[in-house]
Amino acid sequence: RTLDDIGDVRGRRVLVREDLNVPFADGKVTDDTRLRATVPTVAELSDKGAIVLVLAHFGRPKGVPSPEFSLAQVVKPYEAVLGRPVRYVDWEGDAAAVATLRPGDIAVLENTRFFGGEEKNDAAVVDRFAALGDLYVNDAFSAAHRAHASTEGLAHRLPAFAGRAMEAELDALEKALGRPEHPVAAVVGGAKVSTKLAVLKHLVGRVDHLIIGGGMANTFLAARGVDVGKSLCEHDLTGTAEEILDAADAAGCTVHLPYDVVVAREFRANPPVRTVNVHEVAADEMILDVGPAAVEALGDVLKNCRTLVWNGPLGAFETAPFDTATVALAKTAAALTKDGSLVSVAGGGDTVAALNHAGVADDFTFVSTAGGAFLEWMEGRELPGVAALTQ
Ligand code: 3PG
Repeated sequence: RTLDDIGDVRGRRVLVREDLNVPFADGKVTDDTRLRATVPTVAELSDKGAIVLVLAHFGRPKGVPSPEFSLAQVVKPYEAVLGRPVRYVDWEGDAAAVATLRPGDIAVLENTRFFGGEEKNDAAVVDRFAALGDLYVNDAFSAAHRAHASTEGLAHRLPAFAGRAMEAELDALEKALGRPEHPVAAVVGGAKVSTKLAVLKHLVGRVDHLIIGGGMANTFLAARGVDVGKSLCEHDLTGTAEEILDAADAAGCTVHLPYDVVVAREFRANPPVRTVNVHEVAADEMILDVGPAAVEALGDVLKNCRTLVWNGPLGAFETAPFDTATVALAKTAAALTKDGSLVSVAGGGDTVAALNHAGVADDFTFVSTAGGAFLEWMEGRELPGVAALTQ
């Protein structure tokens, strides 16, 4: 059930779980993407005369209140993004403060994780939150992999609805892996294969092309007998990598590993580099990016696909020039999306940073605000915050 089903909210207190867990440094929000994602739901409810009570966590205070983890710090930047005044409500005297709010008002409640019982989904904390509201809206897909009081428990305690951002995330993910148009390609990159094993195992039976990049590709190359020199490689996982390659074969999924690579003797910005065939990596060199020939071939793969799901960069993209492959393939995907031939959905912490760096995040069909939740969804796991909305 979505906001379309919520009925008349005028004067009603709506607890809206948002994800305000934004990157924060030197007193400033360094990326306000998650704040912007909340606007449709919060503005719609406020415009309809609801008393909007935003519930969110900030960092991992583990039940210990402290100024460092206070959401009071996010209120001003949040006001700027919303273009509306926002009240801050502390956990001391919150009920009295909420009672002074009027229809249309928006308040941010203090960090839910200041209660130890939040992460334990403690009934007493669920009751504590529920007492403040009449209705519950979960708009935080990116926190939906947590079965916490504010993300899961409340959905069983108050009439519960999915917010607009949650709805958009679920629609996009359904299009990408639920009922996608084939052929489907997945790009899975990142440093370590150990963090993505479940993702890869889930994808091989579902996608037609699995493009493996980043440091994790080295483990697969090693599994295929390639000497990867000094490259990051989880040698203890080459057996698992082989199993994944065999499972892909059996499922008719084509796995794409780089066949040319960019190597260097040291990992720093702009060191001397060589572009070589994967079989020509010297013992003292490390693979830091996919090579240009492989990137061009991957672009051709995407041209023949209808759906793309992307998680993780192809190279060590934060350090030039090892962003080259990620930027090039992201631009190809963005162009195909603009042409209407590809539905492209991306997510996961580094992925969004990489697409922003390539300047194409806005050209993808959908970019998820989720990190861990996106990965768990790619693993095929049920997210408790989503499941609770449908029960
Ligand atoms: C995130 O940043 O991915 C979400 O806000 C969840 O935060 P958590 O990993 O601390 O639960």
